Amino acid sequence: MYNNKRVAVILAAAGKGTRMGSEVPKQFLEIGGIPIIVKTLKTFQHMDEVDYIFVVTNREYVEHCRTLVNKAGITKVSSIVAGGKERQDSVYNALMEINLMHPGVEYVLIHDGARPYVSEEVVRSVIETTADKGAAVACVALKNSIRRNGEGGSTSMDRSEFVSVQTPQGFRKAELIRSYQAAMESGYYGTDDAELVERAGYHIELVQGEYQNIKITTKEDLPMENRVGTGYDVHALAGGRKLIIGGVDIPYDRGLDGHSDADVLLHAIMDALLGAAGKGDIGRHFPDNDDSYKGISSLELLARVKSVLDENFYRVANIDAIVIAQKPKISPYIDEMEANVARILDIDKSRVNIKGTTTERLGFEGREEGIAAQAVCSIYR
Ligand code: CTP
Ligand code: MG
Repeated sequence: MYNNKRVAVILAAAGKGTRMGSEVPKQFLEIGGIPIIVKTLKTFQHMDEVDYIFVVTNREYVEHCRTLVNKAGITKVSSIVAGGKERQDSVYNALMEINLMHPGVEYVLIHDGARPYVSEEVVRSVIETTADKGAAVACVALKNSIRRNGEGGSTSMDRSEFVSVQTPQGFRKAELIRSYQAAMESGYYGTDDAELVERAGYHIELVQGEYQNIKITTKEDLPMENRVGTGYDVHALAGGRKLIIGGVDIPYDRGLDGHSDADVLLHAIMDALLGAAGKGDIGRHFPDNDDSYKGISSLELLARVKSVLDENFYRVANIDAIVIAQKPKISPYIDEMEANVARILDIDKSRVNIKGTTTERLGFEGREEGIAAQAVCSIYR
């Protein structure tokens, strides 16, 4: 309610998200564990000025949307309406529903379901200006220079003459319906709601929007997801075995015992990577009762872990690892170990840090019974 007048919000969320190219329409993707559509809805739910919310979504997502709305405790949703072919069709469907369910509504705000960062301040100033001037649109100044790209080539334009248009856009309900009906009757499709209202002869007032209020459109608009993982491994030292650490064959009178080449360092690194990706551990991917892994080079296994990361679109930000061994001294081999890991993971060597330590003769490492390794890594997508 604003100045004793009822306010309804239409959330346009019936697009397919073609430019995002994700499996589900972009408004159902999660940011920080919260579906974009829910994040957007919460802002309106929290505002006293907003009485009713009408969500328009793809027909096949209406039930899913209802579940999300209920789970998130969004109580202001009056109806979840099936959308149409174009955004304009979707909004029109919701508008008709508002008229049926709440004919007393005075102002209607329309907002993109794919603009989750909208602030209460911007919504409030769109409502205030709508009440004052009849129609209000949030917009921001352009940051880049612009050129008109015409048939005969491009020409520089005066940036200060333009603004970049956002949502919410607010209107008097009666004028909005009149404008939509006029457009629909003549088969006219506009770029946004303000265009249709302007076309019907009404004035549109600009309201200061916010740069953070972006419309999530392509995958660059999604925040980067960072994850960390940790790994730890131990192998016993035994006679008659090669000592392979970090893919380097180290001359020594004993080697590490195990099913594969027992490369303790690479095993810790692989566990850290798989852990960061939420993909279990090396035991699950390369079981030691499977003969195909007998004696296999752990560099080969690391390449397979890289494939798991690739399949899930993860890149490695950095790895820090430590080899815990009383003997032999590993510092002469560190450079080669780092190069091996970086090569297999296809990252710059500066992203891999390996170090060695002794335990001052304490514990199994100190007694030279075995060697341990620990790793942490950070990955992103
Ligand atoms: N929208 C809608 N109904 C449509 C098309 C779009 O409700 N038929 C909504 C979208 O869900 C989005 C907003 O309008 O919240 C802005 O549209 P846009 O960013 O173009 O989203 P999509 O159409 O889904 O994306 P694309 O154009 O890449 O397919
Ligand atoms: Mg679109």
